Amino acid sequence: MESPFKGDILKGKVALLTGGGSGIGYEISVQLGKHGASIAVMGRRKNVVDAAAAALRSQGIKAVGLVGDVRKQDDAVRVLESTVKEFGKLDILVNAAAGNFLVPAEDLSPNGFRTVIDIDSVGTFTMCREALKYLKKGGTGKDSSSGGVIINISATLHYTATWYQIHVSAAKAAVDSITRSLALEWGTDYDIRVNGIAPGPINDTTGANKLVPEGLSVETEPLFKLGEKWDIAMAALYLASDAGKYINGTTMVVDGGLWLSRPRH
Ligand code: HXC
Repeated sequence: MESPFKGDILKGKVALLTGGGSGIGYEISVQLGKHGASIAVMGRRKNVVDAAAAALRSQGIKAVGLVGDVRKQDDAVRVLESTVKEFGKLDILVNAAAGNFLVPAEDLSPNGFRTVIDIDSVGTFTMCREALKYLKKGGTGKDSSSGGVIINISATLHYTATWYQIHVSAAKAAVDSITRSLALEWGTDYDIRVNGIAPGPINDTTGANKLVPEGLSVETEPLFKLGEKWDIAMAALYLASDAGKYINGTTMVVDGGLWLSRPRH
């Protein structure tokens, strides 16, 4: 679907996306790129980030693939340095890397719980922390007029409770809390806006395939529509661009109203 935004709203911006090589993260990479941003894609698998960067370049987008695991602080530092070396600065950080599997709480080992917290929560904090010196007002390579933008991809699992998702629910609750704390501290001190997006089940993603193995159905969705990766990317464009310049510390739910719904009676 055609974007309703003008093609130059992110002209001259530089974005780094963790988990940007596949799924929702890749679609956000495409849309930020199509609207003018240069894109650094970070992921654990070299073949995935290289293929993503090549696909972006084939669409006329400046892009580079960088291998790294958000659980490793050294990787975070190195990937951020490489991004700034490649494109001269950093304006936008999107934390889209996430781990997930369905497991009943009684069968989940503490290490399994910790692994998802490490990726989603600690990984998000680590990337934000290491990106700060580039994102802050007057940071490396930036003009002195404004700070950067952080977008943390969350979920709605923890608004109520979700079967077999104790680890991811806890991890995303922490992500939302990180979003608010950084919005307060870094918004005030450095003019950095920190927001989140909470997607519902989105068609054709690893997350939805894992959580709803039988497939998403229009019968059970409100608004009789399935969520698309495009819907999440449009929210990211809104938050990353000047359209969202007064938005800080919020997590925007993009789920068609699903988390509110109950069966009809
Ligand atoms: C139970 C599991 C498990 C499973 C791993 N573990 N998979 N436990 N059921 N299916 C446990 C292991 O037994 C181990 O604990 C610990 O987790 C670490 O496992 P590893 O395989 O060593 O970890 P690692 O190779 O680092 O992989 C981590 C991973 C990751 C989280 C499993 O590879 C992964 O899931 N990748 C897929 C990414 C993904 O799904 N992305 C989409 C996210 S969607 P022990 O105790 O045995 O050592 C999303 C949105 C949700 O987040 C909302 C949608 C609506």
